[in-house]
Amino acid sequence: MTIGVTLTKFLLEEQRRFPSSSGNFTSLFSDLVVAAKIISREVNRAGLIDILGATGSRNIQGEEVQKLDDYANTAIIHAMEHGGHLSAMASEEMDTVIKVDAKYPRGNYLLLFDPLDGSSNIDVNVSVGTIFSILRCCKGPNGCDVEEKDFFQPGVKQTCAGYIIYGSSTMLVYTTGNGVHGFTLDPSVGEFLLSHENIRMPERGRIYSINDANSKHWLPGTAEYIKKIKENGRDTTARYVGSLVADFHRNLLKGGIFLYPADKKSAKGKLRLLYEASPLAFIAEQAGGKASTGAGRIMEIEPVELHQRTSLIIGSKLDVEEAEACWKAHGAQREGFV
Ligand code: AHG
Ligand code: MN
Ligand code: MN
Repeated sequence: MTIGVTLTKFLLEEQRRFPSSSGNFTSLFSDLVVAAKIISREVNRAGLIDILGATGSRNIQGEEVQKLDDYANTAIIHAMEHGGHLSAMASEEMDTVIKVDAKYPRGNYLLLFDPLDGSSNIDVNVSVGTIFSILRCCKGPNGCDVEEKDFFQPGVKQTCAGYIIYGSSTMLVYTTGNGVHGFTLDPSVGEFLLSHENIRMPERGRIYSINDANSKHWLPGTAEYIKKIKENGRDTTARYVGSLVADFHRNLLKGGIFLYPADKKSAKGKLRLLYEASPLAFIAEQAGGKASTGAGRIMEIEPVELHQRTSLIIGSKLDVEEAEACWKAHGAQREGFV
């Protein structure tokens, strides 16, 4: 009886499609999978150990750091720093970049991550996730001495993007530019097994996902779009989990649109470009969907700050295009948003 295709086997088969590949990426990814399994174990027993609640400190985002944010952040750094495949990492929870210590070999990749997305949902047992993005930093044989600006690469430069969702099951979804593939963790074996090969996002969905409490701040383009989809007779329904990974994953599989747009309260939006919007935009586009600021393609934004925020409208192609049309009809640029 076979257990199906493991993530390791899938990665090796992907690697063999490129005879010149060194195997470094496969090994890097395997280290990340170990961190994902460790975080999944902690999430799944959070109520039984002292890992719920806040640490009492605040991160550079000004957000209260939850114990599981800290735990996930440390788990990823410890799993990734010694492998010899990275020159540096950047985390939502760390003010500055984390250079790989000189006692370890350095490699040609950079890892950016949101260690625990949906922190406000941890204590109430609602799905949370980890989001990651992998960039190249240099060609040299021993990695490079990285500066913060080496992370400032547009989404189109990503080598790989993915997320882990800790939900009713733990799933890992990723793309390297050859489609989007999903793996489900079988805890009895301790392996991620291929469960969703070549995921395609329906080009139109019934679901829209936005925090309606912000409607008093919405720009006219957003207000018009939400009014339009409520009245379009297409039997739409609203779903808002409050964990970006969960809202995105649902729309990826079922079709739909998620909006956290720039508004009068936050002119640049709330969500972070480099380790939330960019990786999910890569996945969305690879699955046939779209990701926009409302005024332009997420994947083409030239980053200027490590924790830069962005307006995000992401999901089914036709739905995102409709939202963009509303934004453009109201002159997204005129509203001081570029
Ligand atoms: P994080 O927990 O990594 O800070 O991310 C939370 C984000 C995202 O997951 C979610 O879509 C959004 O914050 C929800 O924000 P609101 O609570 O303002 O709706
Ligand atoms: Mn997040
Ligand atoms: Mn987070």
